[in-house]
Amino acid sequence: MKYEFTDDYLTGIEFIDQEHAHLFEIANETYDLLTDNLVTDKYDRIVSLLEELREYTKTHFAHEEEYMESIHFQHIWSERHAHILFVKKLEEVDLQKVDDSQDEYILEVLDFLAKWLTGHIKGADKRIGVAAGTIKQ
Ligand SMILES: [Fe+2]
Ligand SMILES: [Fe+2]
Repeated sequence: MKYEFTDDYLTGIEFIDQEHAHLFEIANETYDLLTDNLVTDKYDRIVSLLEELREYTKTHFAHEEEYMESIHFQHIWSERHAHILFVKKLEEVDLQKVDDSQDEYILEVLDFLAKWLTGHIKGADKRIGVAAGTIKQ
């Protein structure tokens, strides 16, 4: 496990927090598998985990956007824009390169994705909690 889901990441909105925790789980599973030298033929599983991360992120963004709309969140457009740019990045991940067992590339990709997600949760997503009144300021 490399990426720890601490209280720092909580928005206080239960379903959002649960989905964020699940994103951490997928990232950690990928990391653990990548760094486990005892597992042979792990690259198919890594590819499918990265696909899962991509698809689950999209699902999560859709849920989050629906929720932001429901509370008339003021920063919905900048948040949505950030989501769109990130999905583009996710789609640029070269799964062929992952298949070629390029550990360094996979770790780089995973770290980039995790850094973006954690930064986004701590910044943008927590503002949703502030707007919803689940984070006291
Ligand atoms: Fe978000
Ligand atoms: Fe989020």
